[in-house]
This record gives sequence, C-alpha cells and structure tokens, in this order.
Amino acid sequence: MLVRILTHLQDKQAAFRVIDSHAGAGVYDLTAEERAAAASGLTGIARIMQSRFSETTAPLLKPYLDIVRAFNPQRDLQTYPGSPLIARALLRPQDRLVACEVESSARKRLIDALRRDTQARVVDLDGWVALPAFVPPKERRGLVLIDPSFEQKDEFARWPTVFAQAFAKWPTGSYLLWYPGEKPPCHRRPRAACRGGGSGGSSPGTCLRLEFSVAPQQAGAALTSAGLLIVNPPWRLAAELKAILPELEKRSARAAPAGSDLRCPNPEPPPAGLSRKVP
Ligand SMILES: C[S@@+](CC[C@H](N)C(=O)[O-])C[C@H]1O[C@@H](n2cnc3c(N)ncnc32)[C@H](O)[C@@H]1O
Repeated sequence: MLVRILTHLQDKQAAFRVIDSHAGAGVYDLTAEERAAAASGLTGIARIMQSRFSETTAPLLKPYLDIVRAFNPQRDLQTYPGSPLIARALLRPQDRLVACEVESSARKRLIDALRRDTQARVVDLDGWVALPAFVPPKERRGLVLIDPSFEQKDEFARWPTVFAQAFAKWPTGSYLLWYPGEKPPCHRRPRAACRGGGSGGSSPGTCLRLEFSVAPQQAGAALTSAGLLIVNPPWRLAAELKAILPELEKRSARAAPAGSDLRCPNPEPPPAGLSRKVP
C-alpha cells in the first residue's frame, strides 16, 4: 500500500513529503532461518517474488517488487528494505522524507543507511509527539505512515488522539496506519475523527480499511493477520486493491481460512470526468 500510495503521489509534478512516525532500522538482514524459508519459496515475500501475476496486477506490484529486487542483486533473498528505504526509493528530487525512530541502535542503522542523503532526515523524536508537529508539511502533499511496535500494547491507545490532532491540522494529507490482528484497536474513533474532520471541524476525509490474514491466529504464535487504515487514499487505490488482493491472498495463504477484507466506509467521488470502477 505504501508503494501504491507513493506511486500515485508521483502522478503530479508537485513535491510531496513522507512522514514515517515509527521508522525502524531501514534495512533488515534476513536471518538464517528466514533465508532458508525464502530459498524454499515458503515465506511471503519470497513466494510473491517467484509468483506470476495477471496482466492487471503485475504492473501494480512491479514498483514494490523492483525495490525489493534492488536490495537483492544476487538471486536469493537476503535483505528486506524497511518503510523509510522503500519510501526513499520513490522520492523524486523535489520530494522529502522525515523518519522518527526512538530506539538508538535502530536509529543508528537507519542513519547509516541514509547517510549523506539530503532528501531524507532521521530524527530522534517520539513519533506520536512529532506527528502533529510535523503537519502540514510545507509541500502540502504527502503521506504519514504510522507503523508502531505491536508488542507495546499501549502504543495504539495514542493513535486516536494523535490522529485527530494531525488530521485537524492537515485534513488533505494521506495517513496509513498499520495495526495487528483483525480489528483496529480503536476503529471507531479514527473514522469518527475522519468524518468530523477532527477537532478542527474540517471537511470529512475518506477512509479505507483493509484486513489481511495468511492463516488463523494461534495463541502465542507469530502474527498471521494485520490491518491497514488508510485515510484520504488516492481515489484509484480501492479499485487497485480489488485486483491485487485475490491474487496476493492465493500466494500468501499458509493455512485456511486466510483472506482479506476491504471496506470503504466513506468513499470519495472520483475527480470530474473520470469513472470509478469500485463504488
Ligand atoms: C514495527 S517497527 C517499524 C518498522 C518500519 N515501519 C519498517 O517497515 O521497517 C516500529 C519501530 O518504531 C520504533 N518506535 C517505538 N516507539 C516509537 C515512538 N514512540 N516513536 C518513534 N519510534 C518508535 C521502534 O523502535 C521500532 O523500530
């Protein structure tokens, strides 16, 4: 979704900014175990990279898969790019990235990965505090990515308030929130904030909610489902997801029942003169 949204932001010449509130280390070396699973084609990304997609879906996934490939010039999958480096790969000279990371070793690795990069800035700031302060960016176009650590349960409790503050200041920005499991921990309030324009009372934002599961969740086992809340998505994103999701589901499923659920609680009309496939 990150890549699809940034690809749409590139549709216009005007500059955009990506604000990554929980940025991580930037580049991940796959562990020996992950490499073995990748070599056998079992893991999600390895399986996806080896898969063939339809004529509709392949071009939609290509920009993302090209970025992952660029980090793995050798044949086997050894490295995975995190969100700031995926975003960085899609910045044009006029675009900027700001990435918040509070954990010092992750931040150091990210700074190393983005060394001497004049378009990307890594900051030692609490993303929840920085976010309302960083919006609206001077470009007035862009994306806020919020991908908190799911191990810290109280992290998500901060989202509704922070989102409402940020949305009130920047109601036209796009916001992408990742959450663990099948239900946003606070799913009513962000949507309400969206509809009501936050405390600023600006016009309503549009919202997409996507849940994706690769297997039933077993107690104590690794996470098998996650969701995305996308506020102010590019208007073509829902239609693209309708094409992408069934193919991605088939190639990611580990055990039945798996699948995805896409909802458009308050879809936006398409720009004048363009038709929209998904109501
Ligand atoms: C799930 S990871 C982010 C992964 C990243 N989006 C990626 O694709 O690689 C969450 C990161 O947020 C950092 N973090 C946790 N709380 C934070 C906060 N309040 N502000 C900024 N970063 C935080 C953690 O150290 C961790 O590196």
